[in-house]
Amino acid sequence: MTDKILGFPDSAGHKAKLHDTFARPLRDLRISVMDRCNFRCPYCMPEDKYHKDFQFLNSDERLSFREIVRLAEVFAGLGVHKLRITGGEPLLRANLPDLVAELRSVEGIDDIALTTNGILLAQHAAALKAAGLDRVTVSLDSLDPDVFTQMSGGRGSHERVLEGIHEAGLSGLAPIKVNAVVKRDINDHTVLGMVEKFRGTGIIVRFIEYMDVGTINHWQRYEAVPARELVEKIGKQWPIVPAERNYHGEVASRYVFEDGQGEVGFINSVTEPFCGSCTRARLSSDGNLFTCLFAGQGTDLRVLLRAEASDEELLDTISAVWNKRVDRYSELRARDAAPADKVEMYYIGG
Ligand code: GTP
Ligand code: 5AD
Ligand code: SF4
Ligand code: SF4
Repeated sequence: MTDKILGFPDSAGHKAKLHDTFARPLRDLRISVMDRCNFRCPYCMPEDKYHKDFQFLNSDERLSFREIVRLAEVFAGLGVHKLRITGGEPLLRANLPDLVAELRSVEGIDDIALTTNGILLAQHAAALKAAGLDRVTVSLDSLDPDVFTQMSGGRGSHERVLEGIHEAGLSGLAPIKVNAVVKRDINDHTVLGMVEKFRGTGIIVRFIEYMDVGTINHWQRYEAVPARELVEKIGKQWPIVPAERNYHGEVASRYVFEDGQGEVGFINSVTEPFCGSCTRARLSSDGNLFTCLFAGQGTDLRVLLRAEASDEELLDTISAVWNKRVDRYSELRARDAAPADKVEMYYIGG
């Protein structure tokens, strides 16, 4: 761990109030608002397990908007300035713009983003922007129709995702990022097509090394295509040069096209773990707080909310969790020392 920014403001001037055992500040909260998804990506929610009779949460088990906003206020008081709304698929949650509007007014929050698979984005983009959403990140693994279908578990279509991206652009939900998980021998041959499509549009494509999230995707290390392979492959076609990170703890390594046609990013959690600068907390839709994407156990905040805990009690609980945080799963994985007990990704967002 090399991160030693204890007590100092980051480059944007945010003063951290809470640090974990490795001196990592708490700055971002990722809020899952929905455990369901309308895709069945085999690497996340394979159809054979998440079939029509699978018991997802009942709506009263999910945090209400009021409860989410209350927690966001407490987290903001602890130094969180950035929120990301995730799922499952967050656009399956009814009236999401109402939540965005309330989160927008939480003091100290200066960035609200949404991660979506894009299928419902065209119809919601304008309302989300009007409610105060800053930007969207859209998951899109391939533009080849057959490969897309394979990656999404037979749901949706790349055309509809592209319509969603288009509408998000018209609504001003920028900068738009497109996240593509790359699996060897499944979609790696379509990477150049993605770059070609989005280069020069202002939309930033990021390729994610396929990870061993959850317990059901039977991940094999060789299936993660190391970013350096992609950097080489893309660079041969369109020369690229490394660029500075935009902010401390940014997960993507940025490269800009030498011909000025924008940038492309790589999220290299397998080959170059970034736990040392990890400032993210994750809240599941039923109110469990996780301090790592690969955590086995969460801390139930819903039980406190529903027992009418005071703000101080919530603050104390969250502070205690973060203060004793020791997570660094990806670094341990690199040494074959990672724990096996993990929460599923659709349940806490990516
Ligand atoms: P901005 O930089 O704010 O745009 O967002 P981001 O890149 O931090 O968030 P995004 O949700 O777009 O992250 C992209 C992907 O990176 C996620 O879907 C995950 O696959 C991966 N990722 C994000 N955060 C973490 C993390 O803390 N650990 C690991 N291992 N992977 C992460
Ligand atoms: N490895 C890497 N990224 C993943 N995502 C989901 N599962 C995995 C995985 N096993 C990504 C999605 C989406 C984001 C929410 O997380 O594709 O971009
Ligand atoms: Fe849904 Fe995203 Fe999981 Fe695919 S990766 S099943 S879109 S939550
Ligand atoms: Fe953070 Fe855990 Fe990801 Fe490491 S593996 S960067 S600790 S979420």
